[in-house]
Amino acid sequence: MDTLGFNRRKFLQLGSTVAVVSAVTPIAYGASLFKDDILKFSADNENLRLFSNENPYGPSQKVLDAIIKHTNRVNRYASFHTYDTNNLKKMIAERNKIKEEQVILGHGSFEILCMLTRTFGKEQNSIIVPATTFNVTAAFADRIFDHKVKRIVLDQEMNIDLKATKKAVTKDTKLVYICNPNNPTGKALPAAELESFCKEVATTTCTVAIDEAYIELMNPSDTPDTIKLLRENHNVLIIRTFSKAYGLAGLRVGYAMGSAETIALLNHEYYNFSGLIANPGVVAAITALNDTTYVDAYRKKNEEVRTYVEKSLDALGIQYLKSNTNFILMDVKDAKRFRSELKPFGFAIVPGGGKHYPNWARISIGRLEEMKIFLKVLDGMNWLKA
Ligand SMILES: Cc1ncc(COP(=O)(O)O)c(C=O)c1O
Repeated sequence: MDTLGFNRRKFLQLGSTVAVVSAVTPIAYGASLFKDDILKFSADNENLRLFSNENPYGPSQKVLDAIIKHTNRVNRYASFHTYDTNNLKKMIAERNKIKEEQVILGHGSFEILCMLTRTFGKEQNSIIVPATTFNVTAAFADRIFDHKVKRIVLDQEMNIDLKATKKAVTKDTKLVYICNPNNPTGKALPAAELESFCKEVATTTCTVAIDEAYIELMNPSDTPDTIKLLRENHNVLIIRTFSKAYGLAGLRVGYAMGSAETIALLNHEYYNFSGLIANPGVVAAITALNDTTYVDAYRKKNEEVRTYVEKSLDALGIQYLKSNTNFILMDVKDAKRFRSELKPFGFAIVPGGGKHYPNWARISIGRLEEMKIFLKVLDGMNWLKA
């Protein structure tokens, strides 16, 4: 077993065969190799989770070992020796060459996205978000406040429309939320465009929050240097998570990095009680940050499987968006039918495109074996390919 927790020898054998065959007929190859597996999965009633965009391989062995080793401390808050929330904040600050007071932790980045609503959304027109994105900050605002936030539709290519967003900013705007790469499209903004947007829009009165939940999965050379913007004192808030690339979704550890003033505002809204995250989560996150090769290995593996899926979708004639993440948004023509026809095979998915793209579906990238079965099922849906 290697760092990603699967049998490398078997995978390499499979990989080399796939490389030869997949260039021509990846679907036919998947079908012949896994023809019994669909039944096996559905018979076990183990739905394959092709939603939520989790890391299908789980965390590294070092992280699992550390969690198990420290289970006898779960009666304590996360403040013991090495595994202290302050140490985690310190590590994040050191890695990014910022100060400790520029870091806040949350129960997953989800909690931080809700902190944004509470902190910046009290007044009319104070928050701007893309209309199709990870809809937490805005949806929470819709629930707890009497007014709607401004939602900017994506452009023709389904990119976040930075020009229209900039135009929408007024003196009342306190927060602009950008998700990069965006969920559900998987598309990333060109680094230079995002950086110049932030330089103009992130001012003392307007925070630009950049949700980078999937940033570790991007090609590193295309990744915007948002930390540099922060170090240069632009009012950006960078939101990250241990849920995706680090494989720790179940332990709920997220964090944000921003100016000391913005972090103080978020802390204030939470009575300075934020960051008291679960003890095994702190153990896992600290160990994961020290396990430097793991994320690179997952990025490469994810890219390999994603490329396989993309080639297969090309062969099937199914339209999709080129992704920078561990999910792909596909045009499935009839999302309701697609979802219900996948269900009996044991696949759980979400439509994903929201109200602007109702017939698109967002599919998480699982293991190669899982994706082959999924593609085999798609191959059987002739209405989808028409
Ligand atoms: C863009 C984005 N941000 C934030 C989250 C929340 O992640 P977590 O709360 O697990 O850190 C997700 C989860 O799917 C996401 O896709």
